Amino acid sequence: MRLYINIDHVATVRQARRTDEPDPVRAAVLAELGGADGITVHLREDRRHIQDRDVDLLMRTARTPINLELAVADGILDLAEAWQPHQATLVPEKRQEVTTEGGLDVGESAAGGIRRALERLHSAGIRTSLFIDPEPEVVRRSADLGPTAVELHTGEYANARDAAAIAKQLERLRAATELARELGLAVHAGHGLTYENVMPVAGIPGCEELNIGHSVISRSVLVGIERSVREMKELLLRAAGG
Ligand code: PXP
Repeated sequence: MRLYINIDHVATVRQARRTDEPDPVRAAVLAELGGADGITVHLREDRRHIQDRDVDLLMRTARTPINLELAVADGILDLAEAWQPHQATLVPEKRQEVTTEGGLDVGESAAGGIRRALERLHSAGIRTSLFIDPEPEVVRRSADLGPTAVELHTGEYANARDAAAIAKQLERLRAATELARELGLAVHAGHGLTYENVMPVAGIPGCEELNIGHSVISRSVLVGIERSVREMKELLLRAAGG
């Protein structure tokens, strides 16, 4: 099971001040030191967190593969072709949403655009994935479009509260994984996975990659506060000649 760490939230903190810290590229280096098998970034059309500069630098400095999440949009596809990340995951994108809310629409009207985007990415030598809901019909339609992999949306599993609902969502993920594997697709999963809920998903046979962002970056803030304050306090003491 490969662990890809999504560093978008580091960029979100930086963009809150439009400054240069914290730098998501430095965060990627530390994630790699911590054992990340890859780095995920979502370059949104509105550039609300990750900037072109981040992906550009990551492409030149990361030691692990980069998974670029992108909408089916020509401007971003142009950039993906130029950067040639190891992998590109097509995701739905709405300006109003706080985070990626649902899986990609793979219905009739969207299929042509997705197929053309996949062809462009494959021609550039990029492995492809579609971020989709874990529904049998969606998995079948996705397989017809010809990606290398699908990333199953684990949001509903993550939001399930009682044991029966959790078991039901886990079963959905299991069944979707099995079907996708039968159809020749590699299977990834992600969204809303935390230290509390990750284990059952990590145990699904056939699922080979997880994308986790918010929970890991949130924990990083908390486990890092004590040391960060101590370092600032030391500066104040030094300034006072202490
Ligand atoms: N996978 C995809 C396609 C996503 O869009 C996101 C969120 O950006 C994630 C995984 C990671 O989700 P989370 O931040 O909740 O771990």
